[in-house]
Amino acid sequence: MDWPRGLDGLSYGGDYNPEQWPEEVWDDDVLLMREAGVNLVTVGVFSWARLEPREGEYDFAWLDTVLDKLHAGGIRVNLATPTASPPPWFTLAHPDALNVRADGVRQVHGSRDTYDVCAPAYREASRRIAAALAERYAEHPALAMWHVHNEYGSTSYSEHAERAFRVWLEAKYGTLEALNAAWWGSFWSQHYGEWDQVLAPRATQYLANPAHELDFKRFTSDAMLEHYKEQRDLLREANPEVPITTNFVFGQWVPVDPWKWAPEVDLVAFDSYPSHPDERAEQQSALHADLSRSWAGGDWLLMEQAAATVHSKDGAVAKTPGRMARHSMVHISRGSKGAMFFQWRAGRGGAEQWHSALLPHAGKNTRMFREVTEFGNTLPGIAHTVGEPVDATVAVLWSPESWWATSGAHLPAPVDYLENVAQIHRVLRDRGVVADFASPEGDLSKYATVIAPTTYVLSKAAAENLRWFTAGGGRLVASYLTGAVDEHCQVWLDGYLGGLTDLFGVRVTEHLPQPAGERRALWNFGAAERFCELVELRGAQCVTQYATGDLVEGQPAVTVNPFGEGEAWYVSCKLADDAWDRLFEELELAGPGGPGLDVVDRGPWRFIVNHTDQEAQVGHIIVPAGSWAVDKKPQ
Ligand code: GLA
Repeated sequence: MDWPRGLDGLSYGGDYNPEQWPEEVWDDDVLLMREAGVNLVTVGVFSWARLEPREGEYDFAWLDTVLDKLHAGGIRVNLATPTASPPPWFTLAHPDALNVRADGVRQVHGSRDTYDVCAPAYREASRRIAAALAERYAEHPALAMWHVHNEYGSTSYSEHAERAFRVWLEAKYGTLEALNAAWWGSFWSQHYGEWDQVLAPRATQYLANPAHELDFKRFTSDAMLEHYKEQRDLLREANPEVPITTNFVFGQWVPVDPWKWAPEVDLVAFDSYPSHPDERAEQQSALHADLSRSWAGGDWLLMEQAAATVHSKDGAVAKTPGRMARHSMVHISRGSKGAMFFQWRAGRGGAEQWHSALLPHAGKNTRMFREVTEFGNTLPGIAHTVGEPVDATVAVLWSPESWWATSGAHLPAPVDYLENVAQIHRVLRDRGVVADFASPEGDLSKYATVIAPTTYVLSKAAAENLRWFTAGGGRLVASYLTGAVDEHCQVWLDGYLGGLTDLFGVRVTEHLPQPAGERRALWNFGAAERFCELVELRGAQCVTQYATGDLVEGQPAVTVNPFGEGEAWYVSCKLADDAWDRLFEELELAGPGGPGLDVVDRGPWRFIVNHTDQEAQVGHIIVPAGSWAVDKKPQ
């Protein structure tokens, strides 16, 4: 299916909230969108209260006018279902449909995202508004795609969730006996005698059962997916030609398994909000783009980013001139079919009144709008590159289950799984390597090298997949805690490593967490931080050893083992960036880019984004400081 419908080149635009403005502003919006090169806007994301002011009573007049005006102006519409923000009348009538936090507090409306995907009333109301929108707009000529909901993220520990969780568990395990065995129920008297005894893992006195928590996370992702699919199917039925999506992010805000979700959307859409204002923002943008492309298995769409600021936990930092375009190009070069933003016009009121926009509060005579317009009008010039595949021979394993399972408080030492994945990606990216991500159970056959950072949960199927990949000639690099537990969070006995001790040629015999800030030096390889393991050689060669540290001094730190046609490397500790860089040098992983310089080859084209304050030259292509270029790739 071609998407967004009616847009051949690159999409440019953002979330558009006309309902927050008087009608006379709408004509101005369309004129300014055209001036800026905007061709796609996302309408209606949080508009439920304006679309259905009372239960079953709809007001579509304003939306009719908006869509008609956009259509007349040649602007395509990504029309959202508004279910991420139920209106006050709904939550007051159905308080049981509000989400309950792990500590038992039921949230109330007043912000957004207060919903419980397992509450029957919410499900019904969601279907009703989606069906009403489908009926009215499925054939509207402006409709380019549907945007279901927004950033699925409200985990609920309610009675509704609990009931649905039991049904999900019964379907998964069949018998309580199997559940008790999988959850190691004999520990702390957690043996269940009836399905009704199983609760959602709410706040409890001390540590929770990790298998229980992991299953609840899997269940929550599946429950949200059911909610999405109900709406998708209604929209699809109304017009099978219109593509359907929802927007993902990286991290806790959207706790879903994208490998399971991606096949259910017609395009993967991603909201990219880097969380560091310095050069890490560029590294994070590249990470987000490569994740999205990998989930999609090809083209995807950057659905949101901030136009003028980078947000961090210390507040927002203004993007310097050109940075908005460079971030957009990082995404486009890595497979996004456009650059979309939150938001078109900055709001006067509401919680996000200070969030940046393509059209700032001060209007069109601003530096920001000039920059937005200049960039928007450049994009048609590179439309011919759309659809060319990004070639990658290196994949990083991305395991949502390992992320979820390592977020428990019971591990020997804290593990920041998302950071460990991001670390591998940024070190590769700074060495000029464009990497894909892959699922531990996914097809790895097209990669020469697969890196598995702290892939803590390793199912039997995933372990076999890695064995097959390596035996067939692949180079596998795994880091500490990989394969520590199976899919039920039960420890892999006799050497951990997912039972792959023969593959790695080592046994891990002990975990040696160390105090935060303490480092154990490695010969010629930097130092281990926070975590290392005692490793016994069983055929592997030692690449480097620990130079310091009780128990580990002189013991193997990094090893390599030939296996079949390939080889398996094991890194038994948490390495700092420079040590990974050293290892990747050894593995000869390098590309034409570098820190501050993104170089991505796609088919006949080479994209270069120069984030530095120096002119850059890559082959015959010269890119001014802080700028970007697309040119023919050298033969
Ligand atoms: C998210 C949401 C948007 C907006 C932005 C900016 O990505 O989808 O509605 O709130 O964040 O904060």
